[in-house]
Amino acid sequence: MKMADRLSRIQPFRVMELLARAAEHEAAGHKVVHLEVGEPDFDTCEPVSAAGIAALQRGATKYTPALGIPELREAIGGYYEQRDVQVDPSRIVVTAGASGGLLLLASALLNPGEKVLVTDPGYPCNEVFAAAVGAEAQKVPVLAENRYQPTWAQLDEAWGESVRGALLASPANPTGTLVPREELERICKGIEGRGFLIMDEIYQGLVYNQAEYDTVLEIDPGAIVLQSFSKYFGMTGWRLGWVVVPDALVDGVTRLAQNLFISPPTVAQHAAVAAFSPAAMAENESRRVKFAQRHQRLLHGLESLGLEVPVCSDGAFYLYADVSSSGLDSMTFCTRLLDEFHVACTPGCDFGDHQAERMARFSFTADLSEIELALERIAQAMDVFRQG
Ligand SMILES: Cc1ncc(COP(=O)(O)O)c(C=O)c1O
Repeated sequence: MKMADRLSRIQPFRVMELLARAAEHEAAGHKVVHLEVGEPDFDTCEPVSAAGIAALQRGATKYTPALGIPELREAIGGYYEQRDVQVDPSRIVVTAGASGGLLLLASALLNPGEKVLVTDPGYPCNEVFAAAVGAEAQKVPVLAENRYQPTWAQLDEAWGESVRGALLASPANPTGTLVPREELERICKGIEGRGFLIMDEIYQGLVYNQAEYDTVLEIDPGAIVLQSFSKYFGMTGWRLGWVVVPDALVDGVTRLAQNLFISPPTVAQHAAVAAFSPAAMAENESRRVKFAQRHQRLLHGLESLGLEVPVCSDGAFYLYADVSSSGLDSMTFCTRLLDEFHVACTPGCDFGDHQAERMARFSFTADLSEIELALERIAQAMDVFRQG
């Protein structure tokens, strides 16, 4: 069978291979500590699940309007209003996860041969969404000295003739860092009139320090926001997210959403309305506090073992650590850590090329006792690896 050329440019997720190996170790009776996972270990909270069950029981199982049910779009608008940001629900498009939003945005904004600037390291699927519409993600290496976020000067320099916009994330995956507010102001001003800015805010809410802003919309009301119920709201498997688009994009995105998806998942939408209820928000907040405790424990634990974290994450549930003091490149480090010590983490090469061979992502999507166990095992591993 003749397949499309783009398939040859799509890399497998290395972490998937590691996950398969982890499953083999588990099948052989070993306890594996999972620090490679990019989703909360908590189940969806009770008020949300109850709303989903109730929706099923009353037969809410048909298609909905392509942009989502009005009550959910209004609830999302209310979420911004509580942050003193006005977003008219007509600009809110409910999607099948942020992933569905990425496909809509790539389809709406990029022609074949055009480029979007992304960060290296960054979320690897961004490249694939660009490639799916015949466009290209141009990587901008981000540096520890800039908190692994691009400066406007870097974006400006990378902005060639075929570049149509930038896709950034704050907090970012795999580094967990926010774009500092002053730099974000420069970026928004610089991009204005030149192209689009998409800000992936799917880790918004999961921030552990005092944040300088909640959303890019405070700084640039014309920015495009990508959001999700997956992370802060703990609903990965419900496949629901949203995008906020400027008025000028609503019509085009509506036509794309109608044709590509017909509608976002119905039961998930009804469940998600309850995600903004006081009970669910209280639960989300208590989970954030638990993540914050794990964040500190894992950070200090890794550093005490000589695994330097060049920039402490501000949010998400990741720490991006330099594993080169083990004497191994990060792919070998991750493979041996899993095979010999049964701790899974993600090698830097899953997120790009820049310094990837020395970096690994550690997720704190495991409870404190698991993190303690992982640290004990990593300590033993470091002794063995350093002896060569
Ligand atoms: C930065 C980033 N953007 C988008 C996504 C896609 O998330 P979802 O489709 O579950 O909303 C992820 C998933 O891990 C992510 O890390």
